[in-house]
Amino acid sequence: MYRLIRPVLFLLPAETAHHLGMLVARLCAPLAPLIRRILMPSTPRLSQSLLGGIWANPIGLAAGLDKDGRAAGGLAGLGFGAIEIGTITAHAQPGNPKPRLFRAIKDQAIINRFGFNNPGCETAAGSVAHHQLPCPLGGNIGKSKITDNADAVADYQQSVAALGPHVDYLVINVSSPNTPGLRDLQQIEALEPLIRGVQAAIEKLKDPKPLALKVAPDLTNEDLDAIADLALRCKLDALIATNTTIARSGLSLSQTEIEGLGAGGLSGAPLTLRARQVTEHLARRLGGQLPLISVGGIGDADEVYARIRLGACAVQIYSALIFAGPGLPGRLAKELDGLLERDGFAHLSDAIGVDL
Ligand SMILES: Cc1cc2nc3c(=O)[nH]c(=O)nc-3n(C[C@H](O)[C@H](O)[C@H](O)COP(=O)(O)O)c2cc1C
Repeated sequence: MYRLIRPVLFLLPAETAHHLGMLVARLCAPLAPLIRRILMPSTPRLSQSLLGGIWANPIGLAAGLDKDGRAAGGLAGLGFGAIEIGTITAHAQPGNPKPRLFRAIKDQAIINRFGFNNPGCETAAGSVAHHQLPCPLGGNIGKSKITDNADAVADYQQSVAALGPHVDYLVINVSSPNTPGLRDLQQIEALEPLIRGVQAAIEKLKDPKPLALKVAPDLTNEDLDAIADLALRCKLDALIATNTTIARSGLSLSQTEIEGLGAGGLSGAPLTLRARQVTEHLARRLGGQLPLISVGGIGDADEVYARIRLGACAVQIYSALIFAGPGLPGRLAKELDGLLERDGFAHLSDAIGVDL
């Protein structure tokens, strides 16, 4: 069915199609439990405890699709193992001027420079407070554009206080390329106080939540090692790799077309190889001491399986959903189950890291 709808959706400006999709997700929320039962395979082989909740399967929704948390109820119907909303910032902000979302259809890729458009942490908390989701809900938090990096800790802490009570896990996002200076917070000297500050704010919650960190694919191996070591030192609960890339390799567009699109983060198929490399590198460094969630250019069950075998315990998807449609999460879970069975794995956890 999505094959019929997709050409029409792709005639619309990308952001208009996005808002339409989110509207449909919101309207479908009452039917979500029923749709979920139809789309999602029920198999104990894929179920695991992760980031303080039970993921019925390892296919998560990556941050950025449901920026404000209003569509999470409907999106849960698609059969995700978990849903991550955001990025949410302390202050409401409009994001960058439009247009700021572009499809490269032939390359199954997306470029975005949204710049954390969101209603702010208090409003987002209000939106998710009433959700009764059939899967864990993550809250991805970032720095407000108006806040200097020197004051970043307090900014993130404000989002923790507002959103923390209403989500199952939190994610520090320091890896989006569309907020000036944000990625500088990935430097260990800035990152360690930020993580510790966010942890202090989490400790103040009545019910403290697990904390993950999301990293960029554009880091060097040395940077990745330093971040993995820091994550272990700070006793984070997971690493999520990767966010979008500022690189433009893997696109079949001409240089002029690429320059015409302008700045932003690239996601989808061109990111597959790099995200896989980062997953493998981090998994080797972490040595199984910390859960790793792999994101970037995942579009079929073979790639999900490859990431699991390279040390990821779960994955997240975004861009492939735009190209393949809402049946994708359930299909990935079903096919992954088949691949695990074919290779004699009684449970997903038996396959994690077997290729390292
Ligand atoms: C339009 C768009 C908006 C995004 N917004 C966010 C965001 O707000 N926060 C974040 O952590 N990641 C964001 N991402 C990155 C995704 O969560 C994901 O890390 C990245 O797209 C790679 O996965 P994919 O290739 O499956 O899309 C965004 C991605 C896209 C395509």
